[in-house]
Amino acid sequence: MTKVVQTIAELKAFVRDTKQAGNTIGLVPTMGALHEGHLTLAAQARNENDVVVMSVFVNPKQFGPNEDFDTYPRDLEGDTKLAASVGVDVVFAPSTEEMYPTDGGITIRAGRAAEILCGASRPGHFDGVLQVVAKLFHLVEPTRAYFGQKDAQQVALIETMVRDYNFPLEICTVPIVREADGLAKSSRNVYLTAEERQQAVGLYNGLKFAKEAILSGKPMGIAMMAARDQIARETGGEIDYFECLSYPDLKSIDGQTTDVLLAGAVYIGKTRLIDNMIFNLKENN
Ligand code: PAF
Repeated sequence: MTKVVQTIAELKAFVRDTKQAGNTIGLVPTMGALHEGHLTLAAQARNENDVVVMSVFVNPKQFGPNEDFDTYPRDLEGDTKLAASVGVDVVFAPSTEEMYPTDGGITIRAGRAAEILCGASRPGHFDGVLQVVAKLFHLVEPTRAYFGQKDAQQVALIETMVRDYNFPLEICTVPIVREADGLAKSSRNVYLTAEERQQAVGLYNGLKFAKEAILSGKPMGIAMMAARDQIARETGGEIDYFECLSYPDLKSIDGQTTDVLLAGAVYIGKTRLIDNMIFNLKENN
């Protein structure tokens, strides 16, 4: 039976009892409007922890003034049913006032790595994400927290915050779920016309091409340029960004870099699709 908890006091009491019983807690942070991706995170959390808490909170701090905070879909009853179907124990669904009762003016700045890739077109977005995630970590005290690799920049920033500020928990990244042809599953795929849907896989093909070229020793600049051309040709879309950076620091690659994030965003018609791959540069050596 999934319990819905709306106050911090009730949540803290639940967390205290869970910890006293020696049980581990898996946290799945969401903004609701649950889809297959969220349920995959929750299912993994279910497998790896004694207790699973899912937060459902549309976080105002991560929406820009012209973004869709007011119209963002909210359906706590439907979300609770879905959460129950994958064995979530507690849905934590606080009001905005409960989460942000006062504004003392102290914020978290995600810094340089939040101003590139997806952050370039969403100033302040990742500051808001880190603010709510840090609060959730303090409130839920999870053993493990689950995030989708699809939002790789978000995961990189959260991993950096956890590392740099010594949050005592493990970040678990759940791989991207793909369609049969390789297109990353996304709620936005439904906006694609039949023709655009065919073209959309070009982003994944470009990532695959670039990864193979880089691992086979092609100079980075040449591999990336060829992959960009291929993506533009196959998708017929407009590339927002296509980059390869160190992971999780999101800096330019140098001789010391081992793990990298290869990430792209493309406008296909009116739909903006993102996809990425994380790999080790020395993987084939
Ligand atoms: O990925 C999301 O849905 C949100 O950014 C998160 C992590 C739940 C924070 O509000």
